[in-house]
Amino acid sequence: MIKNTNILQDTHGRNHAYLRISLIERCNLRCTYCMPANGVPLSPKSHLMTYEEIYNIAKTFVKHGVTKIRLTGGEPLIRKDLPVILKKLATLPVELSITSNAVIIDKFIEVLKANKVNKINVSLDSLNASKFTHITRRNEFKKVYNNIDLLVKEGFEVKINAVLIKDFNDNEIIDFIRFTKTRPVAVRFIEFMPFDGNKWDKSKMVSYAKVMEYVYKSFNKATVLRLKDAPNDTSKNYKIEGYKGSFAIISSVTNPFCDSCNRLRLTANGQLKNCLFSASESDLLTTLRSGNSIEPVIQKAIQAKFKIRGGMDTLDKLEEPKLHRKNRSMITIGG
Ligand code: GTP
Ligand code: 5AD
Ligand code: SF4
Repeated sequence: MIKNTNILQDTHGRNHAYLRISLIERCNLRCTYCMPANGVPLSPKSHLMTYEEIYNIAKTFVKHGVTKIRLTGGEPLIRKDLPVILKKLATLPVELSITSNAVIIDKFIEVLKANKVNKINVSLDSLNASKFTHITRRNEFKKVYNNIDLLVKEGFEVKINAVLIKDFNDNEIIDFIRFTKTRPVAVRFIEFMPFDGNKWDKSKMVSYAKVMEYVYKSFNKATVLRLKDAPNDTSKNYKIEGYKGSFAIISSVTNPFCDSCNRLRLTANGQLKNCLFSASESDLLTTLRSGNSIEPVIQKAIQAKFKIRGGMDTLDKLEEPKLHRKNRSMITIGG
């Protein structure tokens, strides 16, 4: 019998006020670290949440204390009814944000503004066009690069997510930081994480410590300022003195930030994941469609949440393919 009345609190005392909703399993890019080359089996359309179902599920979470909703994908902007979804979610008392590859975001400026989406996180792993094409298997660098400047000009708060891969883009760390000299954007270097089908190997990962080594080789230590992180930040934030923007490291592998985790994930086919790395999922959509309350299912899922990385609390466990292959491919989680 579960006694806790705050259904969004887990057994480790963490409150979950941040819901990430994946809207779609498809993407207009094919990033190698995110999806297998041959793609992933897609859910039939009838198994995906409709916009009404997304709204109903979100409303229940908000009733219990969710204050922040992030829309993810695949690529959320390619979902045809995105404007309707935004309009519905904008009626809830939440901070609404989006993580996108920004390839087509120039077409959405007005609809984002109209629905109070002020913060956009953009995935961009290289500042070099041919490397971008290599990692994304698509030739869209110019559009993304120009759209970042457009978002800044239009007044959005922009963060750039760069997944670092050894001997591929680790020689661009300093270029990315210099990119923040004249632009008020936050570049976040992400430690490459293991998911089903992404050929992860610890040796391909660039650690938080390694990033800082590069930084201190290129900048005078006194000009590298450690910023205060927000209470539930995924990132350790820094800036170079005098630069308009900042940089950060998301160190899920070498320095997990699970102690302050406030995040839940809802997949496009209506499954609740209590952790990015959780192997188990809870079927909210079937429960909703059968006319039953999703609240007990949510509570049970949260009570089952592990303290660290879905139970992969050591690097050894994270390196064990049998464990992380039980999870989905990143493309169908949404980050
Ligand atoms: P903010 O709301 O701006 O802080 O963004 P965010 O970091 O929550 O979201 P975003 O979609 O930009 O994710 C950036 C990177 O952080 C991705 O690689 C995510 O997989 C990773 N990330 C986000 N949330 C979590 C989390 O709960 N655990 C772990 N381990 N990584 C996360
Ligand atoms: N490791 C780390 N980050 C990843 N992302 C996608 N796959 C991985 C991975 N294997 C990031 C994307 C995107 C965010 C939502 O998740 O770069 O910005
Ligand atoms: Fe939360 Fe899991 Fe991410 Fe840790 S790995 S911060 S527990 S979602």
